[in-house]
Amino acid sequence: MQREQWKSQVGFLMAAIGSAIGLGNIWRFSYLAYEHGGGAFLIPYVIALLTAGIPLLILEFGIGHERIGSAPLAYHKIKQNWEWLGWWAVIFVMFGIELYYTAVISWCINFLNLSFDLSWGDDPNAFFFKEFLSLSDGPSSVGNVRTPVLIGLVIVWFLNWLIIYRGVQKGLELANKIFMPLLFVLTAILFFWSITLDGALTGMKAYLMPDFSKLLNHKVWIDAYSQIFFTLSLGFGIMIAYASYLPAKANITRNAILTGFINSGYSLFAGFAVFSVLGFMATTQQQPISEVVSQSIGLAFVAYPKAISLMPAGNVFGVIFFLCLVVAGLSSSISIVEAFTSAVVDKFGLERKKIVTIMSIVGFLGSIIFTTQAGLFWLDIVDHFLTHYGLVVVGVFECILVGWIFRITILKKHINKISTFQLGRLWTFLIRYFVPIVLGIILFIDIYREVKQPYEGYPWTSILILGIGWILVTLTVAIWFASKPWKTEQHKAPSRGEE
Ligand code: ALA
Repeated sequence: MQREQWKSQVGFLMAAIGSAIGLGNIWRFSYLAYEHGGGAFLIPYVIALLTAGIPLLILEFGIGHERIGSAPLAYHKIKQNWEWLGWWAVIFVMFGIELYYTAVISWCINFLNLSFDLSWGDDPNAFFFKEFLSLSDGPSSVGNVRTPVLIGLVIVWFLNWLIIYRGVQKGLELANKIFMPLLFVLTAILFFWSITLDGALTGMKAYLMPDFSKLLNHKVWIDAYSQIFFTLSLGFGIMIAYASYLPAKANITRNAILTGFINSGYSLFAGFAVFSVLGFMATTQQQPISEVVSQSIGLAFVAYPKAISLMPAGNVFGVIFFLCLVVAGLSSSISIVEAFTSAVVDKFGLERKKIVTIMSIVGFLGSIIFTTQAGLFWLDIVDHFLTHYGLVVVGVFECILVGWIFRITILKKHINKISTFQLGRLWTFLIRYFVPIVLGIILFIDIYREVKQPYEGYPWTSILILGIGWILVTLTVAIWFASKPWKTEQHKAPSRGEE
């Protein structure tokens, strides 16, 4: 069976950027920057990008391209008994992160619709938590499914299905070639609109005014590294699968550097729009800016709607803002389903279209739990555990596998042969020592904190079932998948670098 391929390098680059830029870039980054010392946060953020983000992106692009396979296939071809790691990544991302990620895109679709007549009214906080989510009193009281969220979810999964069903060139590549320019234009409109608002400067000052004392806090550094991981879709298995669709000649390092910088540049840019609007709200309501900035989810669904209501032609602004979130979210969500689909096609040789249809139905059904009245609590716990212990653990193992078990020189030689920017000893050092040690320290501190105090004060049973349970169940399924015999000959196909 012929492996699918991108039509052009630009198509691949758009898809990789599409996966990277997602819901996390627009409000999570801005909020983190604000909370962790404004402009000073950019220091750990850029250090994390340069020392871990881009080197790991080169690694993921490199092994996907050199071994010509999705994550489980690529790892299998490096060392047979490491196949589980690839399965685990694509499984917990598809049956964890993707399930709540699509629910959040559904909220965005709903808020896009609500923007037309500003139907959240005078109290967006009460509207969001009480009326829209009808939040229950804890993770164990699931309550009912929220119909508007369910309807949005149907739309999200239908769009996911429609795009991925059409394949790599006619689906993913075409969609991203439309989505990315659209997203950049919409964000530019928001940017120029928001900086002309009254009080925009106050917002920008709050966003960027450096408070260097915050850099002494280890939490700031942990958040910078985790944000880089999530935002570059590292440890998801996505970048490996995407690079496996590249032709033999592909500029790996240039693509990784461009993806890294465009993604972070986008976050920085979007942050100006977010904070100019908050500055406007603070000025209009004569409140200090700290009063109007709220927690990450609240920033998009509470603070922003409030500001939109105060703005002239705010409904147009609201529609554009939520459309940005929907577009950014969709281009990431399709990449997650693709990473899993690609793995199943590689190993079991099932027909792609059939898998995509089944996965879209299963994914939709799985996401329903996040549309219930306890959805936000579930999301919070599952997200915390999968991003902190799933993605980061995959990152550490990736470095160990490629840096120590595999001969890293094979990969480096392969990448250097086809890339303009050459990798030297620094990259090897980062992959073998620096990244696994830094990620290891982060894991250690995180686990210590976890044991000392349950995450966000949730009951231990919820943490054990939703957090740790989710990790262990997906890990078990991954090991089971890895133990199944290969139904294709893909694992025997030669790799691109010589051994
Ligand atoms: N990289 C994607 C995001 O930031 C998953 O949302």
